[in-house]
Amino acid sequence: MSHLTGLACIRCGASFGIEPRFDGCPECRREAPSNLTPRYDLDAAARELSVESLRNRPTGMRRYRELLPPDIQDAATLGEGDTPLLHCERYGRRLGLERLFLKDESQNPSGSFKDRLAFTALAMAKRFGARAVGVSSTGNAGAAAAAYAARAGLPCIVLTVQGAASAIVTQMQACGAMVVATRTKADRWRLLQTGVAQWEWYPTSPYFGPPVGSNPYGVDGYKTLAYEVCEQMEWEPPDWCVLPVAYGDALFGMWKGFEELAALGLIPRKPRMVAAEMAGCLGAALASGEDAVPEMAAPAPFLAGSISVNQSTYQALHALRASDGAARVARNDELLGLQRDLAAAEGIYAEPSSLAALAAVRRLCEEGRIGRSDTVVVVNTATGLKDTAATAGAAPEIPTVDDGDAARFLEILKNAHGYRVEA
Ligand SMILES: Cc1ncc(COP(=O)(O)O)c(C=O)c1O
Ligand SMILES: [Zn+2]
Repeated sequence: MSHLTGLACIRCGASFGIEPRFDGCPECRREAPSNLTPRYDLDAAARELSVESLRNRPTGMRRYRELLPPDIQDAATLGEGDTPLLHCERYGRRLGLERLFLKDESQNPSGSFKDRLAFTALAMAKRFGARAVGVSSTGNAGAAAAAYAARAGLPCIVLTVQGAASAIVTQMQACGAMVVATRTKADRWRLLQTGVAQWEWYPTSPYFGPPVGSNPYGVDGYKTLAYEVCEQMEWEPPDWCVLPVAYGDALFGMWKGFEELAALGLIPRKPRMVAAEMAGCLGAALASGEDAVPEMAAPAPFLAGSISVNQSTYQALHALRASDGAARVARNDELLGLQRDLAAAEGIYAEPSSLAALAAVRRLCEEGRIGRSDTVVVVNTATGLKDTAATAGAAPEIPTVDDGDAARFLEILKNAHGYRVEA
């Protein structure tokens, strides 16, 4: 059974009951807006959750029921979690790493890691009597909310940007979400705020600024990333975990997972967390030592649209500080090359945002901060199939072989691809 006891502030520790609180800690609001996070009775959980007891449980997120919301057994599931941890030897060698692993979240039901958030967030929606799910998103968070709301039988409203047209928006519409566009993010947030305050909408995304992060019960779902990685590594945690970061929900959630496993005595140490960001706000906050994460100039959304936010959250900063981690900025112009190289070397076609994490790994390797024999886990947050236009634009034209002529075919392979068939 679940050992959830309530919510607590990540920054000041103020505690609350199991309540529908989505607007952060009232105590910290003025100084440094901070999210709340679910707390569990870890002593009670330790009596039921062990290496042995886990061996006999079914796969998927629900195997960690003691540390997830109470209604998780009956929650709408699409088979989320239990994604592979892939050892990328060939690609790792190029970066000078022997032990580079990729946690492939693209293999979740809606094609991204946001399914973990949607699953646990929706598990609490019914308990709180939600009338509808509301989400402000241009991407994967909206697609995951739409899918899980459909599965749970709840209406879903997605507020998105005007002109957003990609496979992800189509995915939301296909899942029956009411997709409505606004001109600005401020408008999206204002409308969602009204929905939450007046129409009993259940928010799964941030909906006001400065942001504190997403729905705390949803963010807690990301803990299972750490649980799964530790199980997959036979309880020997990696040295580094690297994630592409927007609000830092997943970065914080995964870190919390490691903290809980350490508190339960299941792992001997915790990894360092790394934020791969586009705007640089977490790097600036680490340097300044302030708790309030600064608002930066908005990065050009170009490729890594999913992580092009200009202000991250205190919870992300907390994870970096507590783990003695790091933040590095990725450049838009390096993402397509990394995407092509990873796919060609390992067969993993990742969304450009995910490649920001590999850009950060490359930087830390060049700096000598990540060592050759360190174990590095990169979270591949979404599939490249979410947005193929940029990849297609950079790909060479496909040559045609006329009349099925074998000699001409061999010539094309040689000229276009540098490949010689050995007779
Ligand atoms: C593919 C992808 N990677 C990373 C992120 C960053 O997520 P978070 O807000 O948890 O930092 C997002 C979503 O915003 C995303 O869609
Ligand atoms: Zn607080």
